[in-house]
Amino acid sequence: MDNNNIDWGNLPFGYMKTDYNVRTYYRNGKWGSLEVSSSEHIDLHIASVSLHYGQQSFEGLKAFMGKDGKVRLFRWEENAKRMQSSARGILMKEVPTEIFKKAIYKVIRMNKRFIPPYGSGASLYIRPLLIGSGPQVGVRPADEYLFMVFVTPVGPYFKEGFKPVNMLLTKEFDRAAPQGTGKYKVGGNYAASLTSMKKAHDEGYANVLFLDSKEKKYIDECGPANFFGIKNNTYITPKSDSILPSITNMSLLSLAESIGLKTERRQVTEGELESFEEVGACGTAAVISPIGKIVDENGKVYNYGSEPGKISTQLYNKLLAIQTGDEKDTFGWVDIVE
Ligand SMILES: Cc1ncc(COP(=O)(O)O)c(C=O)c1O
Repeated sequence: MDNNNIDWGNLPFGYMKTDYNVRTYYRNGKWGSLEVSSSEHIDLHIASVSLHYGQQSFEGLKAFMGKDGKVRLFRWEENAKRMQSSARGILMKEVPTEIFKKAIYKVIRMNKRFIPPYGSGASLYIRPLLIGSGPQVGVRPADEYLFMVFVTPVGPYFKEGFKPVNMLLTKEFDRAAPQGTGKYKVGGNYAASLTSMKKAHDEGYANVLFLDSKEKKYIDECGPANFFGIKNNTYITPKSDSILPSITNMSLLSLAESIGLKTERRQVTEGELESFEEVGACGTAAVISPIGKIVDENGKVYNYGSEPGKISTQLYNKLLAIQTGDEKDTFGWVDIVE
C-alpha cells in the first residue's frame, strides 16, 4: 500500500490504522524488551486491574514533518515526565524516560509513511498508554504492567480552523475531586467528563468550562484543555491542583514572556471572566482554541468577539511555527527524529 490514497488535507482528528505499534511489559520487577506488533489488539487478562479499577494512564503528543523534510517531535520529555507522575499517582510502575524515548522514536520511524506532509495542517499523533495489565480481584495495584505506543495521522482538531468556539460554564458536574486525580492523565478523569461534555455538545457548545469542585468559584479547565485569559498585556492561567499540567500551556507561558507579556499563574475567579480581553483553551490537539463566548447555566454570557484575539493569534502562530520548524526553536523544545 502506498500513501496516495490518504487525503492528508481532510483527515479527521481520529484513529487510522498504521503499520506498527510497540509494546513492553513490566514483569517480575523489570521492564522487558520492546516488541513491535502489527496487530491493533492486545491480549488482556479478564481480571486485569486496568479494566476493573481503572489503573491506566495515557499521553498525547505530536510529530510534524518540516519543510526541510525533517520529522520534529515536540517536548516528548515532558510527556515522559507527566506519565511518570501519573504512574506514581495511581501506583503503577513508572516507564523510565529512556524506554519511553526508545518506544516513541521506534514507532515514529516504523510508521514514517503515515507522517502527514508539510503544509497539510495534519500531524502524526502519538499515543503512549500504560496499563496495569496483571489480574487482581481485590482492589490492589497490578503486579504486571504493559506500556505501548501507537501512532495515527490526525487532521486539525477543529475543522473550521483557528476560529473562536463557545464554551458552557457548568456547576452541575465535576471533573475531578479537589485532592483527587485531576492532575494526572488517567482515564477515569475522562470518563467523569463525558456526561458534561455531552451536555455541552447537545446544547451546541464546543466543550465545558469546569469550575473548581470545592468552592465552585475558580476556573479550572476547559474540557481536555487548559484555560488562559489575556488582559493588560498579561497572560493569566489558573493555578489549581486538580487540572492537568498542560505542556502547551507551559510552552505558551514561555512564549508569552518572550514576546514581552507578563505572565501569572494564579487562581482565576469566575467573576474575572468579565475583565479578559481574550480567552482561550490550549492543548496538544488544537494548540489554541480561541473562545468567542462563555455562557453559564443561568444564561449569563461573556463575549469575546467572533474573531481570534491579536495575542492569541500571535502565540498560536509562533508555537505552530516552532513545532513545524518554520521558526527557529530557541527554547530547545524540538527534537529531530532521524
Ligand atoms: C484534561 C486535559 N487538560 C489539558 C490538556 C492539555 O495538555 P497538553 O498541552 O499537554 O496536551 C489535556 C490534553 O491534551 C487534557 O486532557
